[in-house]
Amino acid sequence: MNKIAVFSSGGDAPGMNACIRAIVRSAIYNGLEVYGIRRGYSGMIKGEIFKMESSSVSNIIQRGGTILKSARCKEFTTKEGRQQAYDNLKKFGIDGLVAIGGDGTFTGANIFYEEFGIPTIGAPGTIDNDLYGTDYTIGYDTAINTAINAIDKIRDTADSHERVFFVEVMGRDSGYIAIPCAVGGGAEIVMIPETKTTISKVVETLRTGWSRSKTSFIVIVAEGDEEGTAVEIAAKVQKEIPQMDARVTILGHVQRGGAPSAADRMLASQLGIACVEGLLQGQACVMAGIVNSQLVYTPFIDTISKVKAINPTMSRMIDILSV
Ligand code: F6P
Repeated sequence: MNKIAVFSSGGDAPGMNACIRAIVRSAIYNGLEVYGIRRGYSGMIKGEIFKMESSSVSNIIQRGGTILKSARCKEFTTKEGRQQAYDNLKKFGIDGLVAIGGDGTFTGANIFYEEFGIPTIGAPGTIDNDLYGTDYTIGYDTAINTAINAIDKIRDTADSHERVFFVEVMGRDSGYIAIPCAVGGGAEIVMIPETKTTISKVVETLRTGWSRSKTSFIVIVAEGDEEGTAVEIAAKVQKEIPQMDARVTILGHVQRGGAPSAADRMLASQLGIACVEGLLQGQACVMAGIVNSQLVYTPFIDTISKVKAINPTMSRMIDILSV
């Protein structure tokens, strides 16, 4: 292997830049030529490929987002699109790839390897922390800290006005962001897709709280919850408790930005190096991750198909802590 390329794909996450930096520098350290691909698979198809030097990644470790840009690319799901991408990689003589992204990114890389034999190693880059094969994904720690920061501010105004706030956090189909936001943000209720929390349970918890002289409440809603969005859930609860003074806050893409935390910079740097070393060892179609403090390479197929289950005792913590 002489020439590798790095790209970021799917939703961006704080720490992606730190990971790009680690990949570029460890490639150079190991005597490889390294290229960047802009806009993920879309740039691969369009030939947005450029040579990177150590200086290309100076002064980015602290920056959120991704200097390589990111995109979700429909064209790469077609054989023609992938053929075009392969032709472009061949033009540059690229014989290995490092993909920073989530399961959609790795699904594409897996098919690409089966068809064209270009080995890819993945670094888990998503705020959702929903990838099997790593305890934490790059960007997760920063995102939950950003969210908790916002919840602290919401708590101030909730307390002053004695209101119920329904705060929606990201996470797609998972409650990994919602749980620490609820525990760390001191919420009374958390609603996640993995466990069922009915509207009547929410109503009951609020009524019990009022009877114990609580005057303000925070309900954390994971965006994928089965009862609906925070707006819908707030409306359903309002129907049951017309006198409730409620507000809804959707934290949204605020959670995706900002300078990466120390933990994310460390994880991104460690996994970036692991990706390059994995390629040099001849690995393909695996994601580098940290499980129980150990570096592991998990086949993409497992990362994509297996579920990283949420510890069920986590929701229980919120019941205990909000008494
Ligand atoms: O996967 C990261 C994520 O932020 C999810 O939490 C969210 O559901 C989704 O991406 C939003 O995607 P987009 O930025 O395309 O709206």
